[in-house]
Amino acid sequence: MDKKFKRTLVTAALPYANGGVHIGHLAGVYVPSDIYVRYLRLKGEPVLFICGSDEHGVPVTMRARKEGCTPQDVVDRYHHLIKKSFEDFGISFDAFGRTSSETHHRVASEFFRHLYDKGVFLEKESEQYYDEEAKTFLADRYIMGECPHCHAEGAYGDQCEKCGSALSPTELINPHSTVSGSKPVMKKTKHWYLPLDQDQPWLEQWILNEHKEWRPNVYGQCKSWLDTGLQPRAVSRDLDWGIPVPVEGAEGKVLYVWFDAPIGYISNTIDIRPDDWQLWWKDDSTRLVHFIGKDNIVFHCIVFPSMLKGEGSYILPDNVPANEFLNLEDKKISTSRNWAVWLHEYNEEFPGKQDVLRYVLTANAPETKDNNFTWKDFQARNNNELVAVYGNFVNRALQLTKKYYQGVVPACGELTDYDQKTIAEFVDVKNRVEHLLDTFHFRDAQKEAMDLARIGNKYLAESEPWAVIKTDPERVKTIINLSLQLVANLSIAFEPFLPFSSRQLRGMIGLNECVWADLGRTDILEAGKQLGEPVLLFEKIEDAVVEAQVQKLKDTEKANEMEAYRAEPIAPTIAFDDFTKLDIRVGRVVHCEKVPKKTKLLKFDIDDGLGGRTIISGIAQYYQPEQLIGKQICFIANLAPRKFGDLVSEGMILSAENADGSLSVVTIDREVKPGCAVK
Ligand code: MF3
Ligand code: ZN
Repeated sequence: MDKKFKRTLVTAALPYANGGVHIGHLAGVYVPSDIYVRYLRLKGEPVLFICGSDEHGVPVTMRARKEGCTPQDVVDRYHHLIKKSFEDFGISFDAFGRTSSETHHRVASEFFRHLYDKGVFLEKESEQYYDEEAKTFLADRYIMGECPHCHAEGAYGDQCEKCGSALSPTELINPHSTVSGSKPVMKKTKHWYLPLDQDQPWLEQWILNEHKEWRPNVYGQCKSWLDTGLQPRAVSRDLDWGIPVPVEGAEGKVLYVWFDAPIGYISNTIDIRPDDWQLWWKDDSTRLVHFIGKDNIVFHCIVFPSMLKGEGSYILPDNVPANEFLNLEDKKISTSRNWAVWLHEYNEEFPGKQDVLRYVLTANAPETKDNNFTWKDFQARNNNELVAVYGNFVNRALQLTKKYYQGVVPACGELTDYDQKTIAEFVDVKNRVEHLLDTFHFRDAQKEAMDLARIGNKYLAESEPWAVIKTDPERVKTIINLSLQLVANLSIAFEPFLPFSSRQLRGMIGLNECVWADLGRTDILEAGKQLGEPVLLFEKIEDAVVEAQVQKLKDTEKANEMEAYRAEPIAPTIAFDDFTKLDIRVGRVVHCEKVPKKTKLLKFDIDDGLGGRTIISGIAQYYQPEQLIGKQICFIANLAPRKFGDLVSEGMILSAENADGSLSVVTIDREVKPGCAVK
């Protein structure tokens, strides 16, 4: 650790208490932070590891509304589920508090009040959507309407999920409140703003000049925020769930969840260290490190530091190792679509295999770019690395000791050049793992630890104790002794990564103390020591097991499609005359081609029985042009012509939209003459 620091305060993003924890959370934040903290502890450095649940905010109130219970019911349920999942996976927090706690309400409230009294905030009135029936201001997510970009119905006030555009509620066409269904009106409201624009100069200096060592993804995101120019940010909301704004005349207003949540790191520290928490938060000799996912970067690198600096007595983070996202089987993990591997489910389905998941998630850690989890890879890494390399070496060394020496560590004799070379190789691994962990390269660090086991396997294979035992039994003692020292080294090197199997292994070799400084030593296990009974650390995972998991995901997808299908309501009733206004005809596709530079569009030449026409259709994602040539399709023949750049579309080809949004062209069952009407 850098000389100027005496202790490290590590925080892991507080998960929202509106759902469980999945592998994306684990890979992005909790496994890396846990590895880091375990490593520091092994080195004997003072460290505190702080987390807890983030229990305020609109997502919680939405969930409660959907389930017909109170927000407190929701957060109670998930707080306990989340806490247990972390415990099950060995995430070794020193504190796991909650932002609905009394301490937190007091600390966050005082923090706000302190900034308020110092005159840090800007007070501003603005107009916001208000639901007159429900008598409540509407959070962005509570307003729905038509997307101004793709014109899909059901876009939210902050985002259209159909086309992915970020929106503000005032952009929605025909907005309605999802609370009462009524049409919202604009109403004046007052809020408090953190004047980030005033912080721009010192933030630029602090991040861009003084923290060039931050990960490129983190540094880059900060730079782009700073380059755009920071704007004041509201830190209060009109909402009935959260911490009341501690200012007179602020009834019905609460602290913005992103204001109170990071203060949760502080209040959760106070809960466990009421007497010396200030040492951890206000002393320059403390190193503060925030582990987060990439969607949290601006809050931890810009907003929270601005709050801390505004308060005046707090330290700022020294590093913010944020990860990118983990996908699942090539698709974005989604809580609402249940496209996830949930920890509480994994634990039931793979009891005792927490380390396997920890290993695979670190091996695929999305440290520099988004990464992908697949069940095939999970199986392969378990079978080819944990079982075949690590487990195999440990088992061979222990079995040979049992066979030749009844499980007693033999004495080490004179070392050969080959022994020396092997030792040099693994001493080097220690230095490399250390350097990688110090710089937050967890994926590579774990790879190096696995290389220790590879060195062991190679050593055993090349020194062939099973052959040498017949000619030179003295030599075998040295080979086994060294192999066992390597096994002991592995139990230390893997402790931050695979704590469960490390502990199991230490039990087998009777190693009570586990200290990082011992790594690289060849006298960890004393000659004459009786070892325990060897058991396999890992077992093979069969095809059927991972196939069942893939099937489970497929079933989820099916269920989602069904749900989406059911969700589409029937449009309002129309008169028969309205229907007959549509002139639908059959046409034959004479020619079809992609429209240059327009990824979605195909251009059709249609034989309509009347000399032909051109139609442009947005189905290029779903068809190759050749697939459609010669087909008989249905089109609306009397639609007013529409322009697509230089092209004019004379009508519209009918397609069915599947539940996943893909399009399937409407064809006809028996050939007819082009130009026939569809009735
Ligand atoms: N709950 C937030 C999320 O899951 C993270 C909050 S981190 C904190 O994205 F700093 F605010 F605590
Ligand atoms: Zn849209």
